[in-house]
Amino acid sequence: MAIKTVFLAAGGGFDQVSVGSTETTPPGPGQISVRLRASSLNFHDYLVVSGVSAPDQRRIPMADGAGEVTAVGAGVEEFAVGDHVVSTFFPDWLDGEPQVQGFGRVPGDGIDGYAREQVTAPANAFTRAPRGWSHAQAATLTTAGLTAWRALFEQGQLTPGQSVLVQGTGGVSIFALQLARLAGARVIATSSSQTKLERLRALGADEVVNYRADPEWGTTVRGLTDGRGVDHVIEVGGPDSLLQSMHATRVGGHIALIGVLSGVQAKLPMGLALARQLRLQALLVGNRRQQQAMVRALDASPLRPVIDQHFALDDLVAAFRHQESGRHLGKIVLDI
Ligand SMILES: NC(=O)c1ccc[n+]([C@@H]2O[C@H](COP(=O)([O-])OP(=O)(O)OC[C@H]3O[C@@H](n4cnc5c(N)ncnc54)[C@H](OP(=O)(O)O)[C@@H]3O)[C@@H](O)[C@H]2O)c1
Repeated sequence: MAIKTVFLAAGGGFDQVSVGSTETTPPGPGQISVRLRASSLNFHDYLVVSGVSAPDQRRIPMADGAGEVTAVGAGVEEFAVGDHVVSTFFPDWLDGEPQVQGFGRVPGDGIDGYAREQVTAPANAFTRAPRGWSHAQAATLTTAGLTAWRALFEQGQLTPGQSVLVQGTGGVSIFALQLARLAGARVIATSSSQTKLERLRALGADEVVNYRADPEWGTTVRGLTDGRGVDHVIEVGGPDSLLQSMHATRVGGHIALIGVLSGVQAKLPMGLALARQLRLQALLVGNRRQQQAMVRALDASPLRPVIDQHFALDDLVAAFRHQESGRHLGKIVLDI
């Protein structure tokens, strides 16, 4: 059967996106077939599709995918037909210490992704979705949700009463805000937009700071903790924000190095890092076991992702244009 599929031509670029079709294949041993119902946009997908870091061969874009299982191959016991599932960012990294470098095996980059109506893949490329979540909600977890989860709970070992600084209002940061609040942490959130700062408060941020209007926002954040500094930083700004993040962090605090929104080359003030004995932990999303732990926690929680806007699969480029505008808050979803 022919299924609608979005392709990105080699080298990428928004004018290199086309809608075509592929053929379904039945699942072999260890595989499942999934009727995909939603995907969601991440900055990484934007870099791929816009052509900033595109594969040199034709690719089906999008790392995130959620839908329902339509067929199960021999030997698969974890899933049954009808189960709601969500894809994993690293289909081969199942557990333990990081074993992966870069994006060579990441759907939508090194291998084909989920901008299509149906996929047949190893069962390990999916976990079940949280109970009671829509496909659109589940599709936000693969990249943004798991990154925030791992930064706070796996690397950060966040405990109730600690403080967390989140930067900007993109997918990762909004998830981090929600998860940190759920865990009983105090959240300080930044944005470049006054309107978005008000929305951050409504989402539960205890304090908000405009990082554009206040160039010394790191010191301001520190002041909001009575001069002690925050316990954790979800660092997504990159070179433009690292120094301020370090000013904001307590002695012995944890900075999760996650984002590169302002570039990839930063100057590291070693004196400050040493004086404060900071723990700078770079991380790339997470493994399947961590995703399963996150899904179990979300099953039992009232948290629902903040979805800014939905686009149809055919309108993938319009969805990326919306992300590029920076007007969004939270996640942008593709309905498939
Ligand atoms: N390491 C990982 O595993 C991992 C996983 C996911 C994402 N990331 C990275 O994390 C970053 C965010 O990803 P995302 O998908 O959440 O992006 P996104 O949804 O596109 O977020 C964009 C938002 O970030 C804020 N922003 C832009 N420039 C900023 C800066 N210089 N300093 C602080 N905030 C800034 C803006 O918020 P305001 O409009 O409120 O200012 C903007 O709306 C990207 O660099 C992405 O590559 C890394």
